[in-house]
Amino acid sequence: MSDAFQKIKEVLAAVNAATPKTSEELEAFRIQYLGSKGMLKNLMEEIKTVANEQKREFGQQINALKQTAEDKFKSLKNSLDARADASEALDLTRPGEPLPLGSRHPVSITMSRIIEIFVRQGFSVADGPEVEHDWYNFTAMNTPEDHPARDMQDTFYVMDAPGMLLRTHTSNVQARVMTTRKPPIRIIAPGRVYRNETISARSHAQFHQLEGLYIDEGVSFADMKQTLLYFAKEMFGAPKIRLRPSFFPFTEPSAEMDIWLGTDTEENTRLTKGTGWLEILGCGMVDPQVLENCGIDAKKYSGYAFGMGIERQALRLFNIPDIRMLFENDVRFLRQFSSSIV
Ligand code: PHE
Repeated sequence: MSDAFQKIKEVLAAVNAATPKTSEELEAFRIQYLGSKGMLKNLMEEIKTVANEQKREFGQQINALKQTAEDKFKSLKNSLDARADASEALDLTRPGEPLPLGSRHPVSITMSRIIEIFVRQGFSVADGPEVEHDWYNFTAMNTPEDHPARDMQDTFYVMDAPGMLLRTHTSNVQARVMTTRKPPIRIIAPGRVYRNETISARSHAQFHQLEGLYIDEGVSFADMKQTLLYFAKEMFGAPKIRLRPSFFPFTEPSAEMDIWLGTDTEENTRLTKGTGWLEILGCGMVDPQVLENCGIDAKKYSGYAFGMGIERQALRLFNIPDIRMLFENDVRFLRQFSSSIV
């Protein structure tokens, strides 16, 4: 075998042994073996020294060597490129992409604050359906079909579903809890309610209420007053409350609670129409008949209940001029609450 064949073997061994690790080393490898003045070019020249009958064989071996060197170059280049991409994607020192925070709805913020105040006093949250049966919304709550008190609450009835309606107050949850649980019961029921009312800046056909119910042996009006006074102080910073006699079919006696805001500021004067007092909620001792309707022994147990609207409180808390803004879902309006805590 001539020297030329021996050289091919040597170059092949060198190509196989080479281990370029960086892109610079790889480029040097390419120039050394595959470049226009590289070793393979030189080897080609050697064909002159090869006997005629071996030229063909020589050519084939050169081609095989060239293929080996090119394959090695390509696969090393691919893995170096891939490593470069990966290290770029995993640059842990780069600053993070800012994640825009969503915002909580002003009604939710207000609701959470109220819930928190009552949870602190031992109440737990109960839930009930918005599409409700007449019995839970009215009948159980002492408001039978022909009762004039139904006129107080214009109701949306569900078409083709006799006896079904959109609940007009969260008091349906009172009935649901009393019929399924035994006293002591101490719950609050936040939720959405519906009334067939003309929509204006001050009232809407859908809004939110929060109901409270406490039933045990020997629960008194004074207990209720204390719980509501604590709420007024925590929620509004109000120094005092006042309970005015009122009427609800499901409580006896019934009252409406005002909180003292005073007339020190122009806003408080306007809100309280110059009296210093702002009406916040309805309340009273649960009518014994309601307890009996729901299967609770009225001789043994007594209780109080209260219910309040959320939207008016939200308007006041955030200085929002129109209740309709709360239901329009205009993101420019809602984004303003993105930094609100709770
Ligand atoms: N359900 C009454 C309303 O919607 C509020 C209320 C609840 C009053 C519980 C007394 C007791 O106006």
